[in-house]
Amino acid sequence: MHCPTAPLAPLSSHGFTGPEDRGHVALCGTAAGLFAIRRPGVTLAVWRRRLPAGIAGECARLGPVPDAGPDAAPEAAAGRPSVRLVTTPDGVAADLAAALPSGWAGGPLIRDAVRLVRLYADIVGCPAVQLRLDSVAGNGCRFFHADHVGLRLLCTYRGAGTHWLPDDAVARSALGRGDNDAVLSDPRRIRKLGTGHVGLLKGEDWPGNRGRGLVHRSPPADPSGAPRLLLCLDHHDHPED
Ligand SMILES: [Fe+2]
Repeated sequence: MHCPTAPLAPLSSHGFTGPEDRGHVALCGTAAGLFAIRRPGVTLAVWRRRLPAGIAGECARLGPVPDAGPDAAPEAAAGRPSVRLVTTPDGVAADLAAALPSGWAGGPLIRDAVRLVRLYADIVGCPAVQLRLDSVAGNGCRFFHADHVGLRLLCTYRGAGTHWLPDDAVARSALGRGDNDAVLSDPRRIRKLGTGHVGLLKGEDWPGNRGRGLVHRSPPADPSGAPRLLLCLDHHDHPED
């Protein structure tokens, strides 16, 4: 993995002052604060922002999940965005416009996703980005786990945000068993990203982070059946693929 070792500017040049740096977590009020994730020992950086204007209205059209059969493709039928692609900071606007249903073209959600791709690529120092924009109606990854990735960006545009755990609340020896109670003895320690927040989660494959990947899970499904809308970015280290 070569992206995280690319030459990086000093943290101070990005305006991060760290007043809310809490152990392995950096909470910030600006995009620039997310650069704190590059610090050794920081495994989660969160830009606690409001959902950009207009996105909630766009997402309202998603509606509840229809009662479809097992072979149905409800996302496509309902015009729900469900996109997986490899893109670049320069190409992401056109790539998203081509991949999404026509009703989303030029809207605030695409504009924000383009901004986040460019921000993410700048933070990681990678030339290409793997992008997923998923409508998630079920429980997703309901068991606490650490991802085997380098650095992942998550932003929930609609619905509840990702749950995460402070390091000192986790029994890492219990990860992978499918037993949340064994991982976490005190459910009051669960922390939650807000809708619209931008989270950078350092995974097991980030250099020097083995055994320290940020532990997290998907939130429970909305009982109304309304899908979450989740943007997930990873670095793509082989742009020739
Ligand atoms: Fe995950």
